[in-house]
Amino acid sequence: MENEAILQCPACRMGLSGGDDGFFCSGCKREFKRRAGLLDFLLSGEDQWEQIGRGFMNGQEEMEKRLLETPLVELSTADRLIKAVALWYRGDFEEYRRLIEDALTGIYTDEYNEAMKKSLNYMVNLVKEEQGVILDLASGMGGLLQELLSSTKGGFISVDVSPTSSFGLLQYLRYRNWGDRVQQLIADAACLPLKDNSVDVVTTAAGFQNMQDAEPVFKEIRRVSKKLITLCIFFERDDPNLAYVRDKSLHVASLFREGLEKAGWSVSMEIVLKARAEPTPQSEILGIRPDRLPVSPTIRHFVTVVAV
Ligand SMILES: C[S@@+](CC[C@H](N)C(=O)[O-])C[C@H]1O[C@@H](n2cnc3c(N)ncnc32)[C@H](O)[C@@H]1O
Repeated sequence: MENEAILQCPACRMGLSGGDDGFFCSGCKREFKRRAGLLDFLLSGEDQWEQIGRGFMNGQEEMEKRLLETPLVELSTADRLIKAVALWYRGDFEEYRRLIEDALTGIYTDEYNEAMKKSLNYMVNLVKEEQGVILDLASGMGGLLQELLSSTKGGFISVDVSPTSSFGLLQYLRYRNWGDRVQQLIADAACLPLKDNSVDVVTTAAGFQNMQDAEPVFKEIRRVSKKLITLCIFFERDDPNLAYVRDKSLHVASLFREGLEKAGWSVSMEIVLKARAEPTPQSEILGIRPDRLPVSPTIRHFVTVVAV
């Protein structure tokens, strides 16, 4: 990995030594394994790798079979989206790409999809101006990362806390011939295996809204990075949906700004697009909704936040 010099132990912050199999911390003696090209820096102590075999459906084979075998026309809109995601996790990327666009159209309002598309474009144009080490945080299925890879020539670091989605992303990046441009780290945003000021820009699209607590993450990103460019999907301050979130600082623009400032960032909110959002429809096969929020119809604010 080209970026090895910027790594440090996420637990005790000492230097790491290592090679092909992974890294060893001379301070706390922890070992961090490299498997299938992924560097595992999770500190939970469990072997997270075991999760990977269970995949996205996590052993619900009967339901997965129903999703995959039922003809598309007989599936509800939510099940079409879940089927597309299940195909992605199974590595059937051709079929995933055939289904995903229509599935998203069926799930979100047109204005929501439009705001997402415009905000991502705006963000990509900002990141294109940047140089140096760029780290995409909470990459998930790589929505932003793939836009960045298609519109630039450089390399990226990608961090996600989930071994399962990191492994899915690894396969997807290889399928798109981008494998050698991305170094993936499995790590918690609140505990990054990176030296102080070692990153030039952290990007993340809707990553913060999937985290639990703002403060430790805002501080940690401030420690490692000189700049932050993020797309956030916020609620208005008095939105009843906020009753279902743990830390409002990740979900309300003014509180998000305050939280970042408290962690030492200077913040500007670049564009704000408003879009009507409905609860995502329920899956008939799994009984769940693709998105937990909103639970009631509302207006979401798509905000591109730049902080230095
Ligand atoms: C909806 S995805 C974000 C979308 C993604 N950024 C994109 O561009 O498509 C949310 C991701 O956040 C990750 N995540 C949640 N908490 C995290 C944390 N503390 N550290 C790192 N990643 C985290 C989840 O594992 C999940 O993959």
